[in-house]
Amino acid sequence: MSIATEQRGFFITIEGPEGAGKSTLAGAIEKYLVSRGRECIRTREPGGTPLAEQLRGVLKHHQSSEKLHTATELLLMEAARVQHVEELIRPALERGVCVICDRFYDSTCAYQGGGRDVDMKVIDWLNDYAVNGCHPDLTFLLDLPVESGFKRTGKRVETMGKFDRFENEDVAFHHKVRSAFLELAERESGRIKVIDADRSREEISQCVEKIIDEYLFKIS
Ligand code: TMP
Repeated sequence: MSIATEQRGFFITIEGPEGAGKSTLAGAIEKYLVSRGRECIRTREPGGTPLAEQLRGVLKHHQSSEKLHTATELLLMEAARVQHVEELIRPALERGVCVICDRFYDSTCAYQGGGRDVDMKVIDWLNDYAVNGCHPDLTFLLDLPVESGFKRTGKRVETMGKFDRFENEDVAFHHKVRSAFLELAERESGRIKVIDADRSREEISQCVEKIIDEYLFKIS
């Protein structure tokens, strides 16, 4: 884990399933950091630059008789990440701007590793290669039971097909994703903080602000 300093911006990532409230939390974190005198940008993965957003379109919505293979999906995620890190994230951090990112490389471990069963060693290597030393200082994992996530996104059997390639995956896939996220959080407990997403926005924000104070501003 890299340690944030006064000179560079903090790099905060938010992870979790669809419907867990990642965007709402990103907004709350931005408001809090701005109130503490920090400049912030909010971004997302896959995406965050024009080229990476094009790759996001393919990754989420590819539909054709030509199958998008698991390895292609993984490599496109990583390609989008390189663009995002080099064009947006690293320059911002170096200017002292805080970056709040909706998903980052832990999603690759959870979705491609957990969900699609890609060898975690391959993913770890590719993640490291793609970010080239640009690691999050702090990651919030919004944890939610799979069934609650489905309810929140309005996913029903009868609405299958209206969602993106990942949302359209079945319950078993999403259980594997959740387990992989939780395993990661256990392995990297210094960086990844698990937040019970089944609470009010206010409770979640308060808990997250306390963690930011302790880990980034070093106030306890
Ligand atoms: P979202 O922005 O609506 O969460 O959609 C992004 C989707 O991409 C989400 O279902 C998770 C998936 N994803 C991966 O499978 N691997 C990754 O590395 C990233 C960043 C996202």
